[in-house]
Amino acid sequence: MTSGAFRYAVVLAAGKGARFKSAESKVLHRICGRPMIAYLLDRLPELNIEKTFIVVDSASGDIREALERYDPEFIVQEKQLGTGHAIICTLDTIRKLEGSLLVLYGDTPFVKTGHLEALLEACEEGGCDEALLTTELDDPTGYGRIIKDPSGSPADIIEEREASSRQREIREINAGFACFRIPALVSHIENLSNDNRSGEYYLTDMVKILRAAGRTVQTVPVPAGDEIFGINDRLQLAAAEKQLQRRIMAELMTSGVTVRNPETVVIHSTVSIGNDTCIQPGTVLEGECRIGAGCTVGPNAHLVNAVVGDGTAIANGCTITDCVIGRNCRIGPSAHLRDGALLGDEVRIGNFVEVKHSTIGDGTTAAHLSYLGDAVIGNRVNIGAGTITCNFDGTRKNSTWIEDESFIGSGTQLIAPVRIGRGALVAAGSTITEDVPPGMLGIARSRQVNRER
Ligand code: UD1
Ligand code: CA
Repeated sequence: MTSGAFRYAVVLAAGKGARFKSAESKVLHRICGRPMIAYLLDRLPELNIEKTFIVVDSASGDIREALERYDPEFIVQEKQLGTGHAIICTLDTIRKLEGSLLVLYGDTPFVKTGHLEALLEACEEGGCDEALLTTELDDPTGYGRIIKDPSGSPADIIEEREASSRQREIREINAGFACFRIPALVSHIENLSNDNRSGEYYLTDMVKILRAAGRTVQTVPVPAGDEIFGINDRLQLAAAEKQLQRRIMAELMTSGVTVRNPETVVIHSTVSIGNDTCIQPGTVLEGECRIGAGCTVGPNAHLVNAVVGDGTAIANGCTITDCVIGRNCRIGPSAHLRDGALLGDEVRIGNFVEVKHSTIGDGTTAAHLSYLGDAVIGNRVNIGAGTITCNFDGTRKNSTWIEDESFIGSGTQLIAPVRIGRGALVAAGSTITEDVPPGMLGIARSRQVNRER
């Protein structure tokens, strides 16, 4: 970058996206767990951008909240009168600036940093007033077509709606990424008109306006690929997700993770997995999951924000949300762990066991049909089948403490708050309402009477 050549970016993100038919902003719709626009904004720090402006509509609370961490300046476009109008809305801010302005569309998330760098350099070093990223598509439907003059320079962009059938055959398209020298943009943008079929101010008309003013416009052609994919409806959203999934799976498999039948698996870009772990069919891993090495997960497991230690096996049909699980544990099948469950190493949680907001120590076993909520359970404890911590008294949640090496017989209800001391034994079928001191036997069930029939 030459000195004094400041770089700015404006990302257009106003409107709901009519073709999405959504109450939510189009650019917040998620691809592999993240708002589509986030993938684009992630590229900008590598480009030494001084400041990023995001054009939003007036009902943009959700966008502002979701994108706060990028520290952009939001500019409101009250009515969505077109991409050119969106830039006109930024004029009060950008006319004070010098340097280059990247214009990006929030619905075109997968661009490569190198492509944006090439656009900036075309304006900075190549001295052109507008540089456009273009590519050739076998099926250019929906994109603006690049019209060249006899010398091969871009003369105009014709939007699909405005194009004649002849022009629709042009395969070189506007990928939707442009860079302008700010003074040239500011001097001429007010010449945009909305005299076209959709009555919108098309930013793409800047090509012919700048050319008519004797300015230089240049294309930066790139090979066709995922990175220019624009997302205008939910079919394209699904296609974008599929593309990214394929990339995520390829990266995982190359790094030593086995993914069986990957078309049936969903793994978000925020997930990390250690090598020699096997992800079984039908599994969904979302959010900030960190899975260790040598684990097996699934089939059909659903993990959200779960941290899983090395060597742990999570069997068929488990649902695990916001939990930390230690090493060499065996979970499931059909276990439900949630809400800050914290498991040590070598813990066994069996079928139809629910663990909520509880800590479970090393080597502890709860193998069948239990509910453990708001409990603090020590090491090497045996929780018998059908044990229930009765944590809710109708008003508040109460805690249960089960100390190391104690043994809870099957079919026990522990009425919280209650404490089972170290090494204590609770007889099967007890309803425990009082603490059991360390090493003692607690038995709380009525004596069996056998009568004549
Ligand atoms: C646009 C280009 C087209 C290009 C394609 C690439 C124009 C006129 N056309 O078409 O040449 O091939 O992208 O994907 O630019 N937006 C606003 N305010 C508005 C209108 C749009 O902020 O008034 C934002 C939208 O949120 C969207 C982006 O601008 O993220 C692009 O708008 P969209 O309507 O999707 O343009 P396309 O028809 O895809
Ligand atoms: Ca679009």
